[in-house]
Amino acid sequence: MRVEVRLAGPSDLAALLALRHDVFVLGQDVPEELERDELDAAADHAVALLDGTVVGTGRLVDGRIDDDSRFVPGSEGTVGTIGRMAVADAARGTGIGRAVLDLLVARAVERGLPAVELHAQLHARGFYERAGFLPFGEIYLEAGIEHLGMRRALTG
Ligand SMILES: CC(C)(COP(=O)(O)OP(=O)(O)OC[C@H]1O[C@@H](n2cnc3c(N)ncnc32)[C@H](O)[C@@H]1OP(=O)(O)O)[C@@H](O)C(=O)NCCC(=O)NCCS
Repeated sequence: MRVEVRLAGPSDLAALLALRHDVFVLGQDVPEELERDELDAAADHAVALLDGTVVGTGRLVDGRIDDDSRFVPGSEGTVGTIGRMAVADAARGTGIGRAVLDLLVARAVERGLPAVELHAQLHARGFYERAGFLPFGEIYLEAGIEHLGMRRALTG
């Protein structure tokens, strides 16, 4: 088994979107129009490939989601937001999700962002806590799924 985790290029986009479709739209009933959004165009995407097939993905965008679930684009000193973390069903529990998350955090450090936030599905809270993210705010519903804000400081 050969796993490669790296930032995605344009030629990876179709495969990573197909994986997200499988995981979120087919697997979690997230509406397709919510799954893909305008932030994909400007995001840094990460992919994990197992023997050349995309089995993991996630993205980093420069900016934050505010309390009303609106995206506030980044400017100097603002945080980045990680999202769309997805690992193919058969590949879960083998460290691929963590490797994708670590790469996106490293990319945020490279970009000089002071912190990264994400909006975790409640069931995945432990996954992010293991990677140093701390919860903030109240639990809320998005696409019918319970979510919790989580943050990891990258400086200091
Ligand atoms: C959440 C998800 C990305 C995790 O990916 P994964 O490849 O299975 O996770 P890993 O194998 O890298 O796990 C890393 C660590 O987190 C732990 N972990 C994984 N999923 C967990 C969960 N749901 N709750 C608590 N801990 C979890 C693992 O046990 C492992 O712990 P260890 O370092 O002590 O061994 C994957 O389960 C997934 O794609 N789920 C469906 C989509 C989804 O819900 N995405 C999250 C949206 S916020």
